[in-house]
Amino acid sequence: MALVSSRALTLGAVLLLAAAATCNAAAKTACPSRTGYQVFPDMRYGTTSSLSTLSSMAAAESACRSDSSCASFNNLGETVHGNVALTAAVGVCVYMKGICSAKSGYTAYNHTTILLVHPGEITSGSHSASVETACNANENCPGFSVTVSASSGGTFFATLGKIKSLSFAFGQCTYLKDNLQGYTCPPKYGYTNMYHTSAEGVEGAEGSASGDMSGGAAEAEMSCKVNPKCTAWSTDGKVQIGGVGKLSTEEYGTCTYLKDACPPMAGFTAYADYTDSTTAYSFQDKTLCVADTYKQCLKDATCQGFDLMRKFWTSKPSPTTYLLGMCTYVRASGY
Ligand SMILES: *[C@@H]1O[C@H](CO)[C@@H](O)[C@H](O)[C@H]1NC(C)=O
Repeated sequence: MALVSSRALTLGAVLLLAAAATCNAAAKTACPSRTGYQVFPDMRYGTTSSLSTLSSMAAAESACRSDSSCASFNNLGETVHGNVALTAAVGVCVYMKGICSAKSGYTAYNHTTILLVHPGEITSGSHSASVETACNANENCPGFSVTVSASSGGTFFATLGKIKSLSFAFGQCTYLKDNLQGYTCPPKYGYTNMYHTSAEGVEGAEGSASGDMSGGAAEAEMSCKVNPKCTAWSTDGKVQIGGVGKLSTEEYGTCTYLKDACPPMAGFTAYADYTDSTTAYSFQDKTLCVADTYKQCLKDATCQGFDLMRKFWTSKPSPTTYLLGMCTYVRASGY
């Protein structure tokens, strides 16, 4: 085991707390995907003059598909044309029409830019081809970002440094190299992305283990996905079963993915560590397994939510009572 400096240790501890705090406060919506669109969960449109409200999500989706000037629709049944700004909003799924052309060796993120730990670590250019060539030629370049329609100027740069996160940017395409996962830290569904962080297990604690997968990142990702007891995996091939003992930050070349405490259920917002102790539930069926609880609620149009105690609500639950280990799922509009 590598020794970490006390600075890294302190940062690691702070990050652990930060992650825990975010998880408690955070509600995460699992937005079902739509072909040809990139989904931005828990976001809504900011101030825009081009918003139309249709009768349903299905109506908005079909109107947007058949209108080339439509940029986006959401599960509230809204469509927008022209420039789109987004702000945070629990339970709203924004579908942005794909704008990026595919490039081999890269994954394209629509309406996305790259934020860097050190903003200056870039090679800028005045058009797409030059920054793409620069990134291809430099094995330390994790990716590049370009303005798609640059009629009025634009932003073109190849990254040379540490990526802090990806961020929404209307009209911008970000391309991340597929073979540099430890440096690009691509987003993963159902996980919190800890950029440039490695993880260690809880030594000697019962029911916990920390292991290296021989197949590296891909095998670690797969083995974490299929094991409900897995709490995290890293691109260095490590898998954590049970608690994560320590996160070490500033480990350039390793990304760690912390599994969401509540497994994502498509069409629902998950509230981790919260329950609703006031709204009356309609019934409880303790014999159901979790997957069947989800299916039962999904297929019943009157079901507005459920929790891990197998309670079902016909009026929207409002999970505001702290209960460690609980997951409460609230149906998002339109699904
Ligand atoms: C971006 O949009 C394209 C369609 O233009 C789509 O194929 C691709 O999957 C989208 N990217 C993401 C990350 O969703």
